[in-house]
Amino acid sequence: MTTKSAAGFSTLSDLEQAASRKTSRSAWGYVQGGAGEESTMRANREAFHRRTLRPKVLVSVEDLELGTTLLGTGVSAPFYISPTASQGLLHRNAEAATARAASKANILAAFSTLSSISLEAIAKAAPEGPRWFQLYLQPEFSNTKKLVERAEKTGYRAIMLTVDMPVAGTRDRETQAGSPLASSIVLGNGREVVRPLRNPTVDGGHAHIREEASNTWQVVDRLRETTRLPLVLKGILTKEDARRAVEHGAKAVVVSNHGGRQLDGAPASLDALPEVVKEVRSQIEVYFDGGIRRGADVIMALAYGAKAVGLGRLVLWALAAGGEAGVSKLLYLLKTDLATVMALTGRRTISEIDESLINTVK
Ligand code: LAC
Repeated sequence: MTTKSAAGFSTLSDLEQAASRKTSRSAWGYVQGGAGEESTMRANREAFHRRTLRPKVLVSVEDLELGTTLLGTGVSAPFYISPTASQGLLHRNAEAATARAASKANILAAFSTLSSISLEAIAKAAPEGPRWFQLYLQPEFSNTKKLVERAEKTGYRAIMLTVDMPVAGTRDRETQAGSPLASSIVLGNGREVVRPLRNPTVDGGHAHIREEASNTWQVVDRLRETTRLPLVLKGILTKEDARRAVEHGAKAVVVSNHGGRQLDGAPASLDALPEVVKEVRSQIEVYFDGGIRRGADVIMALAYGAKAVGLGRLVLWALAAGGEAGVSKLLYLLKTDLATVMALTGRRTISEIDESLINTVK
């Protein structure tokens, strides 16, 4: 295993601090900040703290199986790397480092439209690794289509469309620190790629957002006609929207509040998960992100019916702390912790993790 000197941290507990020491003030404000009073961001963690696990003892747990499949792709653990923008802010090797670490561990990684290097360069850095492409709709559908075609051509296996960002949330911490994305940050996928980060323009009683904000569910149909790749809709928090996702042909949804960066006042992802699972899990896969820090968190989200969970800030911290070695170490530590919690709860496989594992303490 990687040593502390290569990874920059030695446990899941010292990761965040190790990252903060190596990151500029503006990049740190961007990564750490949420929307509004950051209540939803905090709620993501508190939702895990309100619940406890019901262990089953004296189960033979000598051998555990952590592997699962995500839209038919075999992976070594029920967690994946969530798409996050501009990883070059955290480490000079940017998404290439993340892609290599994920590929070596056979962990699925999703990469952002707003990556610091091109989606082709990411594919080249780790040709074997299972990869998904996160899509931000562009003002012109022809430009959206070009991005999707490039992803399809370079071996990305799904399109993860982010649906919770017609406009960026009000992120004061980011604004105060000087948002690095508002400045000249490299757009690896081409200068023409538009960042969905502008604020509304208010004029009297009227507010204008931007062209992409005019999109409706029809754009999902249009994308389906554009690509043979499965569509994953990221940013679903209600059963009604989950139902619509099924009706419009999505193959999976991600229950997510965008790390508390969009709608402050939205529920914790973990609180929104059960209603979405109940509504659509019999038809499509349901994933989860929001506040995962440890193996016990992974187990809780899986117990509620998520097929896998995404890692956002955790990966950015590991990348900042130690580049590829940092991300490799994070994936290793999280797998080890997950295996430990499975053994301690008497669950030998991912399919044995079900709702009977959860105590809800209100
Ligand atoms: C963000 C967008 C870019 O949360 O995903 O900053």
